[in-house]
Amino acid sequence: MLRDHWYVAALGSELTTRPLSRQILGEHIALFRTEEGVPVALVDRCSHRGYPLSLGTVVNETLVCGYHGFTFGCDGVCVAVPGQDRVPSRADVHRFTLVEQGLWTWIWMGRGAPDFDRLPSVPRMTDHERWSSIAGMATIDARFDLLVDNLLDLSHETYLHKGSIGTPEVAETPIEVEADDGSGVVRVYRHMNAVECPPFYSTTTGLEGKVDRWQDIEYFPPGFYSLHSRIAPVGEPPLPDGRDDHAYHMTIFYGLTPASPGRVHDFWALSRDFCRDEPEIDSFLMKMQTDVVQEDVDALNILERRIQEEVEPREVSVKIDRGGLAARRILRAMADAADAPGPQ
Ligand code: FES
Ligand SMILES: [Fe+2]
Repeated sequence: MLRDHWYVAALGSELTTRPLSRQILGEHIALFRTEEGVPVALVDRCSHRGYPLSLGTVVNETLVCGYHGFTFGCDGVCVAVPGQDRVPSRADVHRFTLVEQGLWTWIWMGRGAPDFDRLPSVPRMTDHERWSSIAGMATIDARFDLLVDNLLDLSHETYLHKGSIGTPEVAETPIEVEADDGSGVVRVYRHMNAVECPPFYSTTTGLEGKVDRWQDIEYFPPGFYSLHSRIAPVGEPPLPDGRDDHAYHMTIFYGLTPASPGRVHDFWALSRDFCRDEPEIDSFLMKMQTDVVQEDVDALNILERRIQEEVEPREVSVKIDRGGLAARRILRAMADAADAPGPQ
């Protein structure tokens, strides 16, 4: 698994003074907020006898182990041991760096100092003036690669998500793929003109009948993906100067976070520039997106179990798979360069 990267560790709303245990890249991590609201990630293993720190209690700006009371600061330094004055320095635990951006909290999983240049940028999730956002997450009992495949090929919407975001035109419309081996970014474009507006968008935008519907994917391996969705009246592309005020825009972000071999966390967020600050639209999208994600989770859980039973797994790739194949190639090259086993 690729360590020297930022991954989404949690939704900001999940971090409270009640610690949460989450496995990321095979490591158990205790995630919580101090009483002042500072987000903290410590290795989920007490230095004393290994009890999970996530079963401890937040007291002011510290976490007290739930077994014998070793007490740790936000930096992982052990600041108190019951029954003695001296605290052994070997009792410190590893602290991971977290960064909160909008509704997500990122974690640096590298062994060395965090590389802030690699932190993905999500301005739409943080610009509350122009965008409204919602977020959620699911954990899938499937290998990381299956989620990458799923997100890079949206033709599955027509079949797996029919009735919400899938219409026949998604599978019928050819894609364009750009893979930049230098930067590692994979882009997949699907522009559907004069097509049916699926309920996901007709209910929220109010557009009826035919629309222009564009899906522009950007995948930044390994852990960050965004799908820019544009819905507009037929035949009204963006103006030559780039203005596009007559269209409705939604970016669907995904954070792909390996939990352990064969398990992956699927964080998502939707940011939209229409019907902003309308709680009933938030609720509608929340329900719809949660259902869509669950359809993917169910499919990938089934697929993983089948793959495990296969003696000789075989695949046939076609045109719609070009984005996924480019992503696999780039992930493989990143793993080779890092001398790490590839994502699993
Ligand atoms: S295991 Fe944590 S204090 Fe003993
Ligand atoms: Fe899907």
